[in-house]
Amino acid sequence: MKISFSKAKPEGRELLFVDLVLGDRKELVREGEKKILMLPIGKREEMTRRKLILTIRKVVAEAKANKIKKAAVTFDEFVFQKLKIDNGELAELMAVNFEMANYQFVTYKTPPKEGFDFVEEMIVVGNPSKSVQDAFTRGQIIGKEVNAVRELANTPGGDMTPRILAEKAQQAAKGTSVKVTVLKKSEIEKLKMGGVLGVAKGSIEEPRFIIAEYRGSGKLKPIVLVGKGVTFDTGGVSLKPADSMIGMNLDMSGGAAVIHTVILAAKLKLKRNVIALVPAVENMPSGSSYRPNDLLRTMSGKTIEVLNTDAEGRVILSDALTYAKRYDPTLVIDVATLTGAAMVALGQRASAIFTKDDTLAKQVSDLGEESGDYVWRLPLWEEYESEVKGTFGDVTNIHNKNSRYGGSINGAIFLYQFVKEAGYPWMHIDMAPRMEAVADEALSQGAAGAPVRLLIKLLERGV
Ligand code: BES
Ligand code: ZN
Ligand code: ZN
Repeated sequence: MKISFSKAKPEGRELLFVDLVLGDRKELVREGEKKILMLPIGKREEMTRRKLILTIRKVVAEAKANKIKKAAVTFDEFVFQKLKIDNGELAELMAVNFEMANYQFVTYKTPPKEGFDFVEEMIVVGNPSKSVQDAFTRGQIIGKEVNAVRELANTPGGDMTPRILAEKAQQAAKGTSVKVTVLKKSEIEKLKMGGVLGVAKGSIEEPRFIIAEYRGSGKLKPIVLVGKGVTFDTGGVSLKPADSMIGMNLDMSGGAAVIHTVILAAKLKLKRNVIALVPAVENMPSGSSYRPNDLLRTMSGKTIEVLNTDAEGRVILSDALTYAKRYDPTLVIDVATLTGAAMVALGQRASAIFTKDDTLAKQVSDLGEESGDYVWRLPLWEEYESEVKGTFGDVTNIHNKNSRYGGSINGAIFLYQFVKEAGYPWMHIDMAPRMEAVADEALSQGAAGAPVRLLIKLLERGV
């Protein structure tokens, strides 16, 4: 969408002017040619940053619902003193959320005669300084990158195989300074990534290991972002029930998020070195699938005792976390739609975060609030480690007594087995809860694009 600025209130037949009003009554007023939407925001003193984000999105959602291509708002109406958001930050927040609210997955839909209901232009009434205008531009860049993640995730599994995901990463990096390297099966074999190879065995689609590197600073040690790239998760021979399989094309959301975070870092010219690592596989049942009781030798040398082939994300991530060590990173964060149990714990409002580092946990929680990618911390205590001790192998990929309690913690403690000897801080983000948007957040159905906004803030601010 185009975002333009106007000192005076624009007029025109095709234009929808959106005014924020106190109370709870929404109303569409027509004054001659003019259409004005009164968008209610409740009580002024009850405004929060979370509500503000939703209000910004609703401007676009309402314009879309009214099939209006051009909308206008007054910048100052979005300034709430008590929220202590400066104008630059507000501008960025507005642009990010305008873009996010305007996205819809229509690639496979026949366009209606009058075209899809996207807002083409947003006019901001006010007199923004150059730096505020730049903040709008930055926000748009961020919002579009979030939407690129949603587009990849929403694409059906048959059209988003490991090979295609890797190609999409290469295409997306074109014209930026991001270098994408794609390792094919033979190279993955040479690296002895038994976890990636094990999960990939059941599919005719070969695995890929995608590496995206952005070097925006000469000397700083890099931050490595690892993303789960399961392009479709049937569960494998521990097959998922039909209902639970719906949406499992989104199981590469973490992978898409980290690839686009690196590309976004390049577009924003951040002075950081950032690397995304994405093991990409399809988890399929077939005569060549990996099986329960298989013992997989991972790149680290540790063996995984497979007790359920549906706990495949952690199996492929173990190799990526080992591969990460070669970068001598200052921080490693993995992002994965790892467990349904995270959704049982948190609902669909926040991703679960796990780390031993209290300072990092606090920082990420705060940036979650700031960015709109909300997170909530769950424990990673050493008591849990006994639950993944193997009988015939080193680590079991589910609770070794098959307990279903604390499933999300169990996934995290498994991953921890592959980083605990490394000296760098590590965080695991189980983004399963935020894989899909929920009804009342003014986003279209499907992928939510988490946690790109959070990750980019973390890279901007530094750790
Ligand atoms: N991809 C799923 C987790 C998931 C479920 C993400 C629903 C988003 C929505 C993951 O690979 C999986 O199947 N996990 C199992 C683990 C279990 C076998 C220990 C789960 O959550 O049931
Ligand atoms: Zn699974
Ligand atoms: Zn999965």
